[in-house]
Amino acid sequence: MAYNNIVIDTKGAVGIIRLDRPKALNALCAELFIELADALDKFEADEAIGAVVLTGSDKAFAAGADILEMQPKTYMDVYKTNFLCNESERLATFRKPVIAAVAGYALGGGCEIAMMCDFILAADNAQFGQPEIKLGTIPGLGGTQRLTRAVGKSKAMEMCLTGRMMGAEEAERAGLVSRIVPLADLMDEAVKVAGEIAKLSQPIVMMCKESVNKAYETTLREGIMFERRVFHSTFSTEDQKEGMSAFAEKRSPNFKNR
Ligand code: CAA
Repeated sequence: MAYNNIVIDTKGAVGIIRLDRPKALNALCAELFIELADALDKFEADEAIGAVVLTGSDKAFAAGADILEMQPKTYMDVYKTNFLCNESERLATFRKPVIAAVAGYALGGGCEIAMMCDFILAADNAQFGQPEIKLGTIPGLGGTQRLTRAVGKSKAMEMCLTGRMMGAEEAERAGLVSRIVPLADLMDEAVKVAGEIAKLSQPIVMMCKESVNKAYETTLREGIMFERRVFHSTFSTEDQKEGMSAFAEKRSPNFKNR
């Protein structure tokens, strides 16, 4: 598929997806979501890729769903086609780790797709927000749910009800982002961290991601049982034997993804 709204690249074992609609601050049109899902399919199928970085420009990660595209649509248009929901879900079901490297605006759908990633590295100029309320609508790609889980009810409610933006420092304090990085270092740092993850055992990394995500979807008791089953199952892999043998033999592990 030829891409009009994203650019993909690889650096070693890291896949990079850059949102690229500069004239619209990377507003997320339906075609962009189709391309994003296609790129994710490619990276998931490629055994040489161990982790992915999703990013935008220095000015905007993404300024939200494309308002001009949405403006004329009727309820039947969006309901019947499940507008924006099918393809965007692909990010949430992607099995390898995805890091969102966010600079500039991450608003509306932009904030929502950043939150679908496994963690967010924020540049010092990052701005997060769910301004849909100002457009007479509400977040539609998980914002009311994921933001609330990330930062708690009070802050999420304030942001969703007022559309107020939150800067990088507030986002870090609130637990929305894992770390703040100077803008000039953002991509290098994101690719470095993704590269470190990509050196680990791919199946074990996937199991770990699945287990952390379980914490969002179940009770503590069930989550702990899930984790325990997965922890024990890692002992059936060659990579667990290799990882622990390498530690005992004081050498670096050579994971085989088995
Ligand atoms: N959709 C479509 N176009 C957008 C856009 C969006 N979400 N955000 C910005 N653009 C376009 C602008 O229309 C403008 O295009 P033109 O030059 O052709 O006029 C261009 O990008 C630059 O934008 P601004 O001139 O507005 O730039 P600014 O620096 O003055 O302001 C901004 C930046 C504060 C991010 C402002 O653009 C803005 O408020 N954008 C909309 C943010 C928003 O409301 N996002 C939520 C969308 S709804 C949603 O996402 C629903 C969902 O949950 C799925």
